[in-house]
Amino acid sequence: MNPIFMRMTAEKNPIKITKTLTSKRETVFSGTLQFGRSFSDHMFMVNYQNNNWQAPEIIPYQNLELQPSCLVFHYGQAIFEGMKAYKDSNGDVLLFRPMDNIHRFNISAERLCMPTIDPELFLNGLKELIKLDKDWVPSGDGESLYIRPFMIATDEYLGVKPSEKYSFIIITSPVGAYYKNPVKVKVETHYTRAAEGGTGFAKAAGNYAQSLHPARLAAQQGYDQILWTDAKEHKYIEESGTMNVMFVTKDKKVLTPSVGGTILDGVTRKSVLTLAKQMGYSIIEEKISVNQVIELITSEQLLEVFGTGTAATIAPISSIGYQNKDYALPGSDSDSLSVNVLKELDAIRRGLTDDPFGWTIKL
Ligand code: COI
Repeated sequence: MNPIFMRMTAEKNPIKITKTLTSKRETVFSGTLQFGRSFSDHMFMVNYQNNNWQAPEIIPYQNLELQPSCLVFHYGQAIFEGMKAYKDSNGDVLLFRPMDNIHRFNISAERLCMPTIDPELFLNGLKELIKLDKDWVPSGDGESLYIRPFMIATDEYLGVKPSEKYSFIIITSPVGAYYKNPVKVKVETHYTRAAEGGTGFAKAAGNYAQSLHPARLAAQQGYDQILWTDAKEHKYIEESGTMNVMFVTKDKKVLTPSVGGTILDGVTRKSVLTLAKQMGYSIIEEKISVNQVIELITSEQLLEVFGTGTAATIAPISSIGYQNKDYALPGSDSDSLSVNVLKELDAIRRGLTDDPFGWTIKL
């Protein structure tokens, strides 16, 4: 069979599809799935030039051919997203809140002076890609297909300016758990993840590059992740590693830093808050100081702390290091919000229960 064919997904965006002749699926699925180590057979790609998105394609996962002078290599004009697909009990594939990620992608694009992408072009490309690589969506406990859309600046030019050419690509990776154990975090009081007016709310590649050095220092001190604080005073909590963070108190409150200029508007964050509210918790989104959290721990008012993110979903935090002291946090049990929210979220994502919020899209 000719591996090349055109599929008219939407009148204006026919996608040219070239199938691989050598699937890697058997090899990948014969081992344990780790996070982000192996990639499905195909990728979606569309280039931007002359002020327009060009013809979209799905091609076998492969190397990119780029000149070393491309702007992305020098000035980091690059953004990305993270989302997931799941299998339901009939073997159908469900995408979780893809429109929220597409919307956030375009917010990131605007901040980085990149072209926004038509949500329909993005969603159709994504759907066709996952349909083609449907067998790559794992169905085991804690497993999913992690989806990584990204955009890079491809102008061959060394002057500092927004590129006029870009590539938008979606790759996917069958994954297991991101964190295997509860996470030990260190309150960061020297380095900063994001400052007001910066790119903290965007999923800009540079945000992650600059976090590596402080994260390495924290790891040398025995911590798994950093609990970022504000750039001005290092007094208020922002995010933990690559996750939003939530504090649950004995009086059924969920405290979480409000999102805005410096904090990413997490899709898992808002899903968890919606479910927690439905479970009877009061949601408090405001500035949360480190001292306030230490006070809650020492007065034994804090029940649990966890991070939320697409990759990690819900990652329990086991201790917080601050000013040379580690504060151990109570572990979770079957009554914990994190456990119950995860159960509910997982049931919705896998189509095992009703989806009252319309979060999933079936392929
Ligand atoms: C995600 O949760 O999708 C993230 O962006 C984290 C990633 C950097 C591993």
